[in-house]
Amino acid sequence: MPSSEAVTVDDIQLGTMTFWGRPLEERNAAFAALRQRCPIAFHPELDVLEGAPPGPGFWSITRYEDVRPVSRQPQLFSSTGGITLSEDSPDTREFFGSMIVLDDPRHAKLRLLVQRAFTPRTVAAIEENVRIRARQLVARAAEQGDCDFVQAFAAPLPLQIICDMLGVPAADEQDVFDWTNVILGAADPEFGGSFDALVNAAFSMYGYAQALGQDRLDHPRDDLVSGLMQAEVEGQRLSPAEFGSFFILLAVAGNETTRNAISWGMHQLTAHPDQKRLWMDDVAGRTPDAVEEIVRWASPVIHMRRTALEDTRVGDAEIAAGDKVVMWYWSANRDESVFDDGHAFDITRHNAKAQLGYGAGGPHFCLGANLARREITMMFQEIFQWLPDLEITSEPARLLSPFINGIKRMDCTFTPTQVPEL
Ligand code: HEM
Repeated sequence: MPSSEAVTVDDIQLGTMTFWGRPLEERNAAFAALRQRCPIAFHPELDVLEGAPPGPGFWSITRYEDVRPVSRQPQLFSSTGGITLSEDSPDTREFFGSMIVLDDPRHAKLRLLVQRAFTPRTVAAIEENVRIRARQLVARAAEQGDCDFVQAFAAPLPLQIICDMLGVPAADEQDVFDWTNVILGAADPEFGGSFDALVNAAFSMYGYAQALGQDRLDHPRDDLVSGLMQAEVEGQRLSPAEFGSFFILLAVAGNETTRNAISWGMHQLTAHPDQKRLWMDDVAGRTPDAVEEIVRWASPVIHMRRTALEDTRVGDAEIAAGDKVVMWYWSANRDESVFDDGHAFDITRHNAKAQLGYGAGGPHFCLGANLARREITMMFQEIFQWLPDLEITSEPARLLSPFINGIKRMDCTFTPTQVPEL
C-alpha cells in the first residue's frame, strides 16, 4: 500500500469519479491520511454522477469515533435530505428511499409496519429457504466448472431471497436484478451510467411493485407481501405507493450489498489461503466472526450521508445547518485506533463485531443485517462443503461507485462434482 505520509490531503478529491476508479491501495492510503491529518474535512462536490445537478460540497467524517455520534443523533443529522453524496430531487428520493430517507416519526411508523410482517414464522421460512437456494446454486455451478463467481454464486442468492420474500415470480427476477444494477451502479457506464437511466429504472421498478402490492391487497395470500399490505400501525396500512418505494429499497439494499460481501469474501479467502484453511478447519466455531470480518473488510456500503438540521460541531469542525455530512464506513472500518492493521483480512480478529458495515447505530441500522449474515454464512458453508478447492482466478472488475463497493465480474475455478439438492 502506498504510504499515507506520501499523500497530500488537499489533493484528495472524494467527489470525483477519478478517485473512485483508483486501485484500492490508493483509496486506503488517502483515507488513512485523512484520518490522521484531517479527519473532518470539507470536500467540494465535483462530478459524481453525469446529469445530476452539482451540489454544494460535503463534510467528510473518516474516524470511527466521529461516525458513531453522527449516526446516533438523528435529531441533529437528518436522513430526509438524501443518503448519498449526490444531489437528487425530493421526488426521486421518495421513489428510491422509502423509510431510509425519512426521519422519525414517519420513519418509525413505516419501520414498525414492515417489522410486523416479519413474524417468527416468516423469518424461519425465509431462513430455511436461504439454505435451499444456496445449495441449488452450488449444485448448478458444480456440474459446470469454471465460471464467473459473481454471476454463479454471489449475485443470484440475495436476489432470489428478496424475490421469494416479495412474491416475485421467477420469470420477473431478471428484470428486478437489472433495475437494481442500474440504480446502484448509476455512476458506472456499463450499467447505464446516467441520472436519466437511474430514474427510468426506478420508475419501472416502482410501477411493477405498486401493481404487486395492489394485487395482494385485493387478493391476499399466505405470503410476506400480503402480510405487509394488511399490517396496521395506529390504524394505518401501507399504501400501494408506499409499498412501491419499500420494494425498491428492499430490492436495492438487499441485493447489491450481500452480493458484494460474498464476492469480496471469496476474493480475500483466495488471496489469503491461510485464512480459508483456518475457517474450513472449524466452520461452526469461526463462522460468526468470519462473516463480520468479511463485512468489515468489504464495507459493501461505502458511505451514508446525513444533513445537519442545526449549526453543530463534530470533533473540531463547525458544521452549519443544511450542510451535508458523509459518514465513511469504509474508513471507519479501517480506523487503526479500533482495528489493528485494519487493511488486513483476519478472521481471527477479536473485535470484528465492532465493524460499522451495517451502519453505526441509530434508527436506520440495517433492517436486513441478520438475513445478510445468514446468506453469507450459508453460501460459504455450502462452498466449503462441496467445492472446497474453489479459487478466484482473475482480478475483480470493480464497480465505479463512491457508494457501493461492488464487483461486477470475477472468474473462479474448482473441481466439478455432483451435489445433491436439498
Ligand atoms: C452485507 C449486507 C448488507 C449491508 C452491508 C447493509 C448495509 C446497510 C447500511 C449501511 C444501512 C444504513 C444504516 C444507517 O443509515 O444507519 C442499511 C439500511 C437498510 N438495509 Fe441493509 N445492508 C445489507 C443487507 C441488507 C439486506 C439483505 C436487506 C433486506 C433484505 C437490507 C435492508 C435494509 C433496509 C430496509 C435498510 C433501511 C433501514 C431504515 O432506514 O430503517 N439490508 N443497510
